[in-house]
Amino acid sequence: MSTISSLLRSNIRNLKPYSSARDEFQGKATINLDANENPFNVAYARYPDPLQRNLRQRIAKMKSLSPEQIFTGNGSDEAIDLVIRAFCEPGSENLIALTPSYGMYKVAADINNVECRQVELATDGATFSLNSQAVLDVVDKKTKVIFLCSPNNPTGNLLDKAEIYRILDNFKGVVVVDEAYLDFSLAASLSSDLGRYPRLIVLQTLSKAWGAAGMRLGMAFANREIIGVLNQIKYPYNINQLTQTYAIQRLFSDVVMKDHVKEIIAERTALAADIQKQACVKHVYPSDANFLLVKVTDAETIYKGLVAKKIVVRNRHSLPLCENCLRITIGTPAENKALLDALKHLSK
Ligand SMILES: Cc1ncc(COP(=O)(O)O)c(C=O)c1O
Repeated sequence: MSTISSLLRSNIRNLKPYSSARDEFQGKATINLDANENPFNVAYARYPDPLQRNLRQRIAKMKSLSPEQIFTGNGSDEAIDLVIRAFCEPGSENLIALTPSYGMYKVAADINNVECRQVELATDGATFSLNSQAVLDVVDKKTKVIFLCSPNNPTGNLLDKAEIYRILDNFKGVVVVDEAYLDFSLAASLSSDLGRYPRLIVLQTLSKAWGAAGMRLGMAFANREIIGVLNQIKYPYNINQLTQTYAIQRLFSDVVMKDHVKEIIAERTALAADIQKQACVKHVYPSDANFLLVKVTDAETIYKGLVAKKIVVRNRHSLPLCENCLRITIGTPAENKALLDALKHLSK
């Protein structure tokens, strides 16, 4: 049995997956009477490709991977859920996530009745840093997956790669590195390490830098055995035809994406400097993402004051290590100016 196979939940290892009409016949036919579709010529009458071959081919080219190393999901949230479903036995096995971090790791674990062990980021020395030893210390025989998020949401910082490698080198289960915000940083993707680490899964998404959150397209990059499992346990037609077609088009316009990223980064630098000067702001944390984590004098008061001016940000006060912190997405120059004016007003 391969290492990946031995890590799978036993019911997943033994699963006989659903085989759709589009799985069983992939050639070009003149008459398709195999999928109980409406035969008349209306838009989107036909089921989409269940394995998103053209789209995965396009992503593969962009990412210098093979299509077999790519899973596409209804947002990266789908991949998060499927990884837990594939590897963690409900009621007995566990996963590890950092805190504060993206909330869906724990929610998806809870939905799957899998224990989520949360390890606080270290705040001594470097801000919100990953301490690999602290993570490895809570691993036990029942730990199947570790979720890391770099740059991390909501703290905005990249995790130290040496610490991530230390976890990859010492943990025998699956390590997921969520790179949703990577395009806003100068760091390289860990996807170039997939050959070296067969139990590594890298997540990316079109929801952030690509400006396509409404399209719902997330990607998981991993070795072909893991991708094969994710494709077996997903819903057959998880990516609709509109998304498959439009995503391919959108992925050809990376010039627009790069321009947006450049502008967002410039705005991030300017906004961080400007809001740091406001009396209601205690600290602006450095960010490698498209948002700023900002410690204010009183998060609830400032949050409500901004809402009164029709500006909504995310109050992260209730998260560990985030006392009186707001998470503020970088907007357009006009939106950022409105935010700054509002903070000036609330500082009086
Ligand atoms: C770290 C992180 N991962 C994943 C997601 C979800 O991305 P998607 O829109 O692809 O489901 C988010 C959304 O905010 C996020 O912050």
